[in-house]
Amino acid sequence: MGDVIESKLNETRVFQPPIDFAQKSNIDKDELDNLREWVKKDYEGFWRHFALKKIEWFKPFKKVLDDSNSPFYKFFEDGELNVSYNCLDRHLKTWRKNKAAIIWESENGNTRIMTYQELYIEVNKFANVLKTLGVKKGDRIVIYMPMIPEAAVAMFACTRIGAVHSVVFGGFSAESLRDRIEDAKPKVVITADGGYRNGKSIPLKSRVDNAVNGIEHKVDYIVTIRHIDRDVHMKPLRDFWYHDLMSDEDYASIYCEPERMNAEDPLFILYTSGSTGKPKGIVHSTAGYLLWTMLTMKWVFDIKDEDTFWCTADIGWITGHSYTVYGPLAMGSTSVMYEGVPTYPTPAKWWELVEKHSINVLYTAPTAIRALMRLGNDWVAKHNLSSLRLLGTVGEPINPEAWMWYYRYIGNENCPIVDTWWQTETGGHMITTVPGVLPAKPGSAGQPLPGIFAEVVDNEGNPVNNPDKGGFLVITKPWPSMLRTIWGDDTRYKETYWSRFNGKYYFAGDGARKDEDDYIWIMGRVDDVLNVSGHRIGTMEVESALVSHECVVEAAVVGRPDEITGEAIVAFVVLKDSADKTRHDELVRELREHVQKEIGSIAKPQEIIFTDSLPKTRSGKIMRRLLKDIAAGNEIKQDISTLEDATVLDKLKELREKMENGNGD
Ligand code: WT7
Repeated sequence: MGDVIESKLNETRVFQPPIDFAQKSNIDKDELDNLREWVKKDYEGFWRHFALKKIEWFKPFKKVLDDSNSPFYKFFEDGELNVSYNCLDRHLKTWRKNKAAIIWESENGNTRIMTYQELYIEVNKFANVLKTLGVKKGDRIVIYMPMIPEAAVAMFACTRIGAVHSVVFGGFSAESLRDRIEDAKPKVVITADGGYRNGKSIPLKSRVDNAVNGIEHKVDYIVTIRHIDRDVHMKPLRDFWYHDLMSDEDYASIYCEPERMNAEDPLFILYTSGSTGKPKGIVHSTAGYLLWTMLTMKWVFDIKDEDTFWCTADIGWITGHSYTVYGPLAMGSTSVMYEGVPTYPTPAKWWELVEKHSINVLYTAPTAIRALMRLGNDWVAKHNLSSLRLLGTVGEPINPEAWMWYYRYIGNENCPIVDTWWQTETGGHMITTVPGVLPAKPGSAGQPLPGIFAEVVDNEGNPVNNPDKGGFLVITKPWPSMLRTIWGDDTRYKETYWSRFNGKYYFAGDGARKDEDDYIWIMGRVDDVLNVSGHRIGTMEVESALVSHECVVEAAVVGRPDEITGEAIVAFVVLKDSADKTRHDELVRELREHVQKEIGSIAKPQEIIFTDSLPKTRSGKIMRRLLKDIAAGNEIKQDISTLEDATVLDKLKELREKMENGNGD
């Protein structure tokens, strides 16, 4: 890696913040300049100030940063607090008590609104339920749920008693869920009978049954929320209905004392893909994480008390954690939760929601924008979107065409767009254009936020300040919401993020360039991680899923640029001699389904290409870049002298020609 970063974008448009937005924005130019100066001069004083101001502490901290055991940094480590207390209890002392905390809507039109008071009661009761089930501080809980308010209830109930939740995206398969359960070793799994998606129902509870069936780690209890009235199997003494437990006064008494947590106690684990086959359990801390979700809500989303805020991400991803649950609720905002896809029952569903709930700030992903854009403007035009005042994107670089559409048709050229670069590991936004102050350039995330020190460096770690030259994106100072480690694997934490630049910089895994205005342009991952619809998928994960099929000897997976999903998965597969190659189409279908079963539908290859062998270097490393070019139909320019067997290339070229003529798949 490292030799390949060339800049392709050549976008020069600049969009100044709308004047009336700028007049009311939470931060103005002077303040932004001051914040930047302040943190440069007095790094600890800056973080001390905000941590004391934003968080309600049970015991305030004295020490800001402990860097004596880097890269295992600690922030505010002698402080004590509780996240559910900060997100709920403290609002009850104010007029927000009866403010909507969560506005929920499902794709079938069902809605629910939960006030802070209602959410508080539900969380307290469920926290007591978990305690009665034997859950203690530090125990793990896996949450495998649809996008319903109870998912947030479950998360807050964990934080109330100091249990560490690990939310697993409901689109992941039973096998993926099992891997995560085996790693996190939860006492309890919380799920639902099912969820709605694209007009279909998703059988969550039965997947949990499959996941725990025969595994080594024993899950004590499975708690199931009834949501879609689907028949599920309930195993006596292990499985309980949420509503039964919650209506039992002995189990679910109405107040649960919030646990005094240390600032550095783990708040949650969230699994994400890396460049090996095994997902990494990213561990986030209690105080640092909370602080940064709050500050970014204020600075980046310009959140005001009267706003209705909608982040479209599923709670199974970090975006849903930070900007559907923790950030908005810690700020006392109204957070919208939507269960379903953007295009069901019609491609107007999201715009209908914006109008109906009078949404002010909308945060979504380029892949959704592109998918909706493709369906035409008529769907948008049917609805009054004038409540919107700020738009955001996340997950991958946004192509200028999609940016312009979002700006023009959704924002009516009246809303700033914040393109936010960050990662599961960073906990919250890192690079963006503070709205109302910094102009936006379509395709660039912008500048590091105050408190965040990001650089683009070359192989040796020297800054690259040439707008035409790419390098590696690194973070040069610790920040409060950074991951603390990989669950159970400190070594992998050090190796993955800190070894690339000798422990000096956090290496994000992205290539980037910095222009003359210090705007950072993300150029994509430089490791073996794909970005499909804004979701990280490790090529190795898909490869191991493929080779676990009885007909497959070897597989190599690469990404190919895709108009809607950003990248699409292409798999080159070597079949066993025993496989019946005349069953070509059937095998393709079988393998795609197999990957879906192993990982989930997001990892299903778009294309599978059978080949007799894979191009490898003499040391046996698969030459992925070559395959990438072949998959994309590009001219092959790279040096192929290291190829172990040059005839492979001819065969692959032949395959490509076949593909182009339409008989490849
Ligand atoms: C990777 C992190 C953070 C929530 C979403 C995904 C890519 C993310 C942007 C952006 C260009 C972006 C990067 C990053 N990415 N946001 N605004 N512009 N690329 O979280 O699954 O942890 O993935 O997503 O490649 O490393 P994630």
